[in-house]
Order: sequence, then C-alpha cells, then structure tokens
Amino acid sequence: MADEESMIRAEGLVKRFGDLVAVDGLSLDVRKGELYGFLGPNGAGKTTTVRMLTTMEIPDEGSIAIDGLDARARVVEVRRLIGVIQQHNSLDKDLTVRENLLHHALMQNLSFKEAKKRIEEFAGIMELQDRMETKVDKLSGGWKKKVSIACSIMHRPEILFMDEPTTGLDTQSRNLLWKLIRGLNKDGTTVFLTTHYIFEAESLCDRVGIINKGRLIAEGTPEELKRRVGAFALVSVGPDGEESVSYHPDSASARAASADVPPDSSISIRPTNLEDVFLELTGRRIRCTIFPPRCSGWPTATSAT
Ligand SMILES: Nc1ncnc2c1ncn2[C@@H]1O[C@H](COP(=O)(O)OP(=O)(O)O)[C@@H](O)[C@H]1O
Ligand SMILES: [Mg+2]
Repeated sequence: MADEESMIRAEGLVKRFGDLVAVDGLSLDVRKGELYGFLGPNGAGKTTTVRMLTTMEIPDEGSIAIDGLDARARVVEVRRLIGVIQQHNSLDKDLTVRENLLHHALMQNLSFKEAKKRIEEFAGIMELQDRMETKVDKLSGGWKKKVSIACSIMHRPEILFMDEPTTGLDTQSRNLLWKLIRGLNKDGTTVFLTTHYIFEAESLCDRVGIINKGRLIAEGTPEELKRRVGAFALVSVGPDGEESVSYHPDSASARAASADVPPDSSISIRPTNLEDVFLELTGRRIRCTIFPPRCSGWPTATSAT
C-alpha cells in the first residue's frame, strides 16, 4: 500500500500495565477514507489501542503515524487532525447542550466567534436545534452520544476515533448513529470504530480488524474474513444438546456434509458471521450478543451472554 494512502499506521504497539500486556505487538494500517472496525471482546485491548492512537497514552513499544505524522513527536498537529469519542462520554451533565458544545469548541482552540458559528452549523447538521438549551443530564443515551459526536467533530477532524459508540444504546439510537457515522465517512472522514457487536462490524465497516488478548488476529473485509472460514456453517445439535459447527465454502457442500451428521441430531445451515470467524480463530465466542439479538436475515442469536 502506498504511504500517502495511509491515515493511521501503527507498528509493533505494546502497552503493559504491570505484568499485564494489554496490547501485544499490534500493527495496523487504516487507509484514508476508510470506515475501519476494531472488533473484539471486553478486555481485548481496544480502548488501550485507541488511547495510544489518539496520543492519550504513550506506548511502551512501537510507533504510530497519523496521516504520516509521528504521533509522539508531532502531538499538537496530530491532535488537530483527530476527533475522539471515548467509551464513556466526557460531557458535563450539568451544562446544556449549547454550553457543552461551546466548551469543546474553545478547548479545540476555535475563537469565540468561530465557535458560535460552528455551534449553529453543527446544531443544524446534527438536528440538535430543539435540544440546545436542554441540560445533558436530561437527554437519552442516544442524544448524549450525538452531542458527544458533535463536540468531537466541531474542529472538522480528518479522522474520527469512536470507542464503542453504540454500546448500551437502543436500536433507534443506534440506527441514528449509524446514519451519522456513514454520513461523516461518506463526506471523507476516516473512521476508526471499536465495537464488540458482531452485527455492527459487519454492517457498518469497510474493513475489520479482530483483536483478542492484545493481538490483531485477523483483518479484512467482513466478506473476506467469513470466506476464509467458509461462507456457510452447518450446525448440528445432538440429543444431549451438544452443538457442533463445521464450515463450508457454499451451501451445497454444507448440505452434502450434513449426510455425515448422526441421524438423531437436528441440523441447520446458515451463512457464516464474524462470531464464527472469532470462534474458529480463538476457540471461544466474543460473548456479547449479536446486535440486535434478532434481526432479519440473521439466525437466532447465538447463546451469548
Ligand atoms: N489503566 C489501566 N491499568 C491497569 N490495567 C488496565 C488499564 N487499562 C486497561 N487495563 C487492562 O488492559 C486490558 C485491556 O483493556 P481495554 O483496552 O480497556 O480493553 P477493551 O477496551 O477491549 O475492553 C484489560 O485487561 C484491562 O483490565
Ligand atoms: Mg473498551
């Protein structure tokens, strides 16, 4: 890949907390304009990675270049290029939406005049007009997240980092955010989004990196990743309730393989999903529910908790 296409390049990142290696030799390359998904279970090292990529945490080893700039040597310029939506929002709940936006705009070094102009602009873009004088405390989770995003993009960053932006949101709020994220990406913003929702990574992202125990264990488009495992899964459940899964390149070969399943088992054939990819690579589930639990085109949610 040509260097000029790279927006986020990390090489050999390591972060330790005492004896724990939270991020363990992680390298990745996100291209300009990509909507990149960073998928992994809780504790995999997603937030720690985002904190390093956004200059909030210094890696113990490795290097990071943001739009070709060394993230350690050029912190101020790098911070200007990025917007960050942290896992737990950093809004002041006792202030109104307008006051929060103003606070963030001033923090991003915009002049008071410019800040006021951008606030009006972003209130319009993000349809916040009716809530500008509402205290953040009174907003639903989805609207809070929307305000967080507005706060983080008022300086028009080239790259937006979002750490689990839809965790805990209801379906309606999630749809609202997906629309917003897609729109920002379509307008040219590179998006780096962490998630532990399989469905989110599959539906929203151009390319997905799967992280487990601090390591990037697979990377590719959702289709590529699924094809690598086998596009179709043959699931059989024996009389004792024991489930076994095998993967096949197409539905015909999955059907053919079903002839070998013991006759007293129940059988289903379904398209593979990224949970299968994770399961094949690690021997365990992401365990976080396919999101939403039931939706069209998807099998019954795997028994994740
Ligand atoms: N400041 C910290 N001090 C000690 N351990 C930490 C700290 N931050 C994260 N960890 C640990 O590092 C691992 C990765 O955490 P994190 O990056 O938050 O994972 P994720 O965001 O994927 O859930 C976890 O085991 C977590 O407990
Ligand atoms: Mg996290």
